[in-house]
Amino acid sequence: MGMNPLQELGEKYGPTKRYHDYLKWYWMHFRDIRNDVRSLLEIGVDKGTSLSMWREFFPNAEIHGLDLNPDCKQYESDRIHIHIGDQGSHEVLQKVDDKGGPFDIVIDDGSHFPEHQLMAFRFFIKRMPQNGIFVIEDIGVGRGHDRKWVNDSMKGLVDHINYWDYDIESEGWLDMGRFPEHACWLDKNIAGVAFYRFICFIMKGDNPGANPFLRVRE
Ligand SMILES: C[S@@+](CC[C@H](N)C(=O)[O-])C[C@H]1O[C@@H](n2cnc3c(N)ncnc32)[C@H](O)[C@@H]1O
Repeated sequence: MGMNPLQELGEKYGPTKRYHDYLKWYWMHFRDIRNDVRSLLEIGVDKGTSLSMWREFFPNAEIHGLDLNPDCKQYESDRIHIHIGDQGSHEVLQKVDDKGGPFDIVIDDGSHFPEHQLMAFRFFIKRMPQNGIFVIEDIGVGRGHDRKWVNDSMKGLVDHINYWDYDIESEGWLDMGRFPEHACWLDKNIAGVAFYRFICFIMKGDNPGANPFLRVRE
């Protein structure tokens, strides 16, 4: 199989995600929304290569990068905005969201510390629009912390996606087109989660509205 267009851009710009072979998964999740995406944030700028790739891939998007290293400011250019700060600070995340949000896509390729990954997920998922996509790179890869922690948290989203109302008769499950009041925010707002080796995509959306089973009886 030949290279997909995003892999071709990966060859042109050389972001680290190219070496991890993540671009085939990004292509799968991003190819249909290429023209619709208006704002993207990537945590972890490094040499600015992934931001340049996203700028070319999403022609209508403002591309934001957050990095601890002040030298990254040099990568600011047309449609590329750089924010300097520690992703472990709530205040920093708030500032970035105030300036560039809400973000259709957030990619966490920063410190890779589990507590930072969970913090960024919790912070942005609430603030992103429905149909937003949150991506965690290098998930489950150790840096002296509990590697399984973030894996397990994101695996737990499956139970929210497949929310089950125990008050409903089992034959009535196709009618579970609306969740009751006591269903929690994650039950109602996570439409999907996809794992590939060391990368995870979380799709925000109206659950069960974005669930195709709803259409069985329509
Ligand atoms: C793997 S590199 C990013 C690579 C880039 N996204 C690409 O695809 O080419 C990780 C970056 O995260 C930054 N970083 C590390 N800890 C951070 C933190 N606590 N807050 C913000 N950025 C951090 C580093 O300075 C480094 O530039």
